[in-house]
Amino acid sequence: MASSNFLSTLLLLPLSLYTALSLVPAAEAGPKVPALYVFGDSTADVGNNNFLPGAQAKANFPHYGLDFPLSRPTGRFSNGYNGIDFLAMHMGFRRSPPPFLYVASKISMNRLKGVNFASGGSGILDSTGSTITMTEQIRHFRTIQSNLSMRMTIDAKNLMLSKSIFLISTGGNDIFGYFSQNKFPNATQKQLFIATLVSACQGHLEEMYNLGARKFAIVDVPPIGCCPYPRSLNPTGGCIEALNDLALGFNKAIKVLLQNLSLNLRGMKYSIGSSYEVVSNIIKKPYALGFKEVKTACCGSGKFNGEGACMPNATYCSDRRGYLFWDMLHPTHATSKLAGFAIYHGSLQFAAPINIRQLVEASN
Ligand SMILES: *[C@@H]1O[C@H](CO)[C@@H](O)[C@H](O)[C@H]1NC(C)=O
Ligand SMILES: *[C@@H]1O[C@H](CO)[C@@H](O)[C@H](O)[C@H]1NC(C)=O
Ligand SMILES: *[C@@H]1O[C@H](CO)[C@@H](O)[C@H](O)[C@H]1NC(C)=O
Ligand SMILES: *[C@@H]1O[C@H](CO)[C@@H](O)[C@H](O)[C@H]1NC(C)=O
Repeated sequence: MASSNFLSTLLLLPLSLYTALSLVPAAEAGPKVPALYVFGDSTADVGNNNFLPGAQAKANFPHYGLDFPLSRPTGRFSNGYNGIDFLAMHMGFRRSPPPFLYVASKISMNRLKGVNFASGGSGILDSTGSTITMTEQIRHFRTIQSNLSMRMTIDAKNLMLSKSIFLISTGGNDIFGYFSQNKFPNATQKQLFIATLVSACQGHLEEMYNLGARKFAIVDVPPIGCCPYPRSLNPTGGCIEALNDLALGFNKAIKVLLQNLSLNLRGMKYSIGSSYEVVSNIIKKPYALGFKEVKTACCGSGKFNGEGACMPNATYCSDRRGYLFWDMLHPTHATSKLAGFAIYHGSLQFAAPINIRQLVEASN
C-alpha cells in the first residue's frame, strides 16, 4: 500500500484541523458538467423506492434522514447524505439529482441537470432483487435521452451527453444473493459467477455508451462481509471473508473489463472509485480517521445492531460521526463524506486509472 496516500497525509494533520477542513466545496460555482446520471442500488438510491408500493428496501421513515436538512427521511439509506450526494457536491451540484420516479410525475425532465435512477435492492443481474433492475434503469434513461432530441439538435445532444457523468454504484446485492445460495463456492464456481456479473456489466455499459454516455464513474463493491448484518451471522463476530473475497474478485474483474472497453469504445473515459479501499482503511485505522465504532451499526437491533433493521422502533446512537455504519448494511453520512472526498480527489489507491475529478475535467 502506498505510504503517501492522502489518508496518511490526513493522519499527519491535527484532528481539529482535519475536522475543520471542509471536505466538500461550496456549490456556488455551479456544476462542472452538463448533467449527472446515477444508476445503482441502495448505495445510490435517493428515493425511487418510495414510489414502489411493494418494495422491501425502503428508507423513507425515521430514523433515516435524521441528519439530513430538516431531519427529513428521503429514501436515502443513510442518516444524512449518501456517497453519491457527496460526489455530486464535488461536481458542483447541490446534491444528487432527484429520483426518476419523483420527477417523472412532476415536470419535464428535459430541463434537469441529471436524474437518479438507482433503486435499493437492485443489482447488475436482472434476477437480483425485485425493485428497478439495471436494465430498467437504463431503459428509463433511454426515454429521457430520446426526449432530449425534441429540444436540441442531435449534435448538441451528443455533445451534452458526452460531457456528462454516468455514475454507477452496484454489485453488492448480486454478491449477497449468490452467497445466500452458495455458502462454500469453490474457485471454479466463484470464477463462473464473477464472469456472469462482468458479462452483464459489459452489456449495461455498452448500452449506455450506445445511448451517448462517454464518461463513466464506477464505485466498486465495499467489503460487504464486514457490514453489521453479516457480522451478526458469524459466530466469531468477525467479517464474513467469503463475501469480501467475492467483492474483491468482482472489483478486480471490472478493472479488466473497463480497461478493455475503453480500448474498444471510441471516446470512452472512466474512473473506478474504490469504496473497498476507503472502508478497509476506516476499519484498519478508525481513530486516526475520526471513527470510534466500526462493527456495530448506529441504528438497529440485536447483535451489532445487525440483526434487526433500522425501523422506527429501533434505537440509534447519539454520536453518529463516530460510526462507520448507519444501519445493518449501509454507511453513515460521515463515512460517505470521507468516501466521496477520497474517490473524487484521491490517489490511485482510491480511484483509478484517474480519479473522478480528473474524469470530470477531462476534455472529450
Ligand atoms: C417524453 O416526452 C413525452 C412527449 O412530450 C412525454 O409525454 C413524456 O412524459 C416524456 N418522458 C420523459 C421521461 O421525459
Ligand atoms: C466445484 O464445484 C462444482 C459443483 O459442485 C464441481 O462440479 C467442480 O468439480 C468443483 N471444482 C473444483 C475445482 O473443485
Ligand atoms: C479483455 O480483452 C481480452 C483481449 O481482447 C480478452 O481476452 C479478455 O477476455 C477480455 N476480458 C474482459 C473481462 O472483457
Ligand atoms: C419493532 O417492531 C417490529 C414489528 O413492527 C418487531 O418485529 C421488532 O422486533 C421491533 N423491534 C424492536 C427493536 O423493538
